[in-house]
Amino acid sequence: MRISFASPGLPESGGLVVGCFESKKLSPLAAELDKKTGGALKRAIEGSRFTGHRGEMLEIVAPAKLKNSRILLVGLGDIAKAKLKDLENLGGSVYAKLANSGDIEIAILMSDVEGSDVPVVTRAARVGFGALLRSYRFDKYRTKEKAEEKPSLKKVTIHVEEPQKARRELGELQKVSDGIFLTRDLVSEPANIIYPESFAAEAKALSELGIKVQVLGDAAMKKLGMGALLGVGQGSSRESQLVVMQWEGAPKAKGDAKKPVAFVGKGVTFDTGGISIKPAAGMEDMKWDMGGAGVVIGLMKALAGRKAKVNVVGICALVENMPDGNAQRPGDIVTSMSGQTIEVLNTDAEGRLVLADALTYVQQKFKPRAIVDLATLTGAVIISLGHEYAGLFSNDDALCDALSSAGEATGERVWRMPLGPEYDKLINCDAADMKNIGSGRAGGAITAAQFLQRFIDEGTPWAHLDIAGVAWSTKDKPTVPKGGTGFGVRLLDQLVANNYE
Ligand code: BES
Ligand code: MN
Ligand code: ZN
Repeated sequence: MRISFASPGLPESGGLVVGCFESKKLSPLAAELDKKTGGALKRAIEGSRFTGHRGEMLEIVAPAKLKNSRILLVGLGDIAKAKLKDLENLGGSVYAKLANSGDIEIAILMSDVEGSDVPVVTRAARVGFGALLRSYRFDKYRTKEKAEEKPSLKKVTIHVEEPQKARRELGELQKVSDGIFLTRDLVSEPANIIYPESFAAEAKALSELGIKVQVLGDAAMKKLGMGALLGVGQGSSRESQLVVMQWEGAPKAKGDAKKPVAFVGKGVTFDTGGISIKPAAGMEDMKWDMGGAGVVIGLMKALAGRKAKVNVVGICALVENMPDGNAQRPGDIVTSMSGQTIEVLNTDAEGRLVLADALTYVQQKFKPRAIVDLATLTGAVIISLGHEYAGLFSNDDALCDALSSAGEATGERVWRMPLGPEYDKLINCDAADMKNIGSGRAGGAITAAQFLQRFIDEGTPWAHLDIAGVAWSTKDKPTVPKGGTGFGVRLLDQLVANNYE
């Protein structure tokens, strides 16, 4: 789908989209169209329940006296107060409404609004960005879908003063959507296509953007002593991989700013549970158990794409959790790269094992100024927060605040959950330094986070995002079609932009 910008004007074909304020007050452009159509818009409003609340829509097909296919009237609400996210949602909702309308092209007509501190070019760019984000579709395996079953809409033109400025703003945002779409693609791919080595190949392809990519295999990881990660992968015929991506966008930075910000992702390309095998129903969802690593690679693509002035390291810890004859058994004791030993009481609590070694590695090798890890780590976080917020666990209040505000701005919201010695105690163990599950199921997302914290050096700001509830959606949202969401790419891109550039 293409988004373009043009000077104010009234195209004579395709669909037209105009706004209406609260209390049925037509925007100037809508009023103009109302006049041109002999009052069709006002009559349509009177004949419906449309009031102009933000997000409401009213479609007038075959408007009188015009050659256009339709006019879509969009409720803007109190548009002067709209946040950037609200504008993206409007763009996404318009796309969704008209995607299968039969129109190939639509024109969104935008003008300045009084009292808004967001310039109209920025509003136009955000509307376009929302439409673009919503237009994502993972349909490469639907070989029998006929052209007339696919979305008809191919081009959205936004008419606005100074279109070249809006085009430039969207250009920047498009670097972020490039990253989001990579994440969505990888999360959507089945596990026979995306496994540790094929995922690593996707990462290597990013070197053309100037990202330094290094891949460690089983032998290299064994040398480093990564017994926790390798134990998870040992029941699979696929070799485990640790992908290390570096973006040096601030080569001349000094002191703390020179140190990289680190992002670490759980990349379990399929999670059967291992010998502690999962029930059959719903196991297919575990193809997206690499969602954390998917966000890290998408984020690196976004940051490099927009040439972010920051040094970043991205780690993807890639394994397949399978139950073959060589698989790790419940009760096995593994030695992690940190030297700490772990009794593996449940082979399905594998994400924390994989992350443990990746976290040790990134600290030893890069001494990062902050670490954020992402993982589809626990079912328990879904019980706690549902599908609206990611669970946030951290040893650093400032990092939490920064993540929370980036979350509110981007709509990828995070909710802080507690850590503490009472929870930490629950993973103490008689046979080894710790066990990989809590005592009982209570606080399952928290005990998983406590486990990770045992691998974080004192004084290193660290945040863990449990994205199990938000990496995949079974419902369409304004800017996120159902399926892999890419949740985390925008959040962390915003975090970097606000705090580290
Ligand atoms: N990948 C799962 C967590 C998960 C569950 C993600 C549902 C997305 C949707 C993780 O590896 C897992 O199996 N966790 C166990 C931990 C338990 C054995 C302590 C869980 O949450 O049940
Ligand atoms: Mn598991
Ligand atoms: Zn898992």
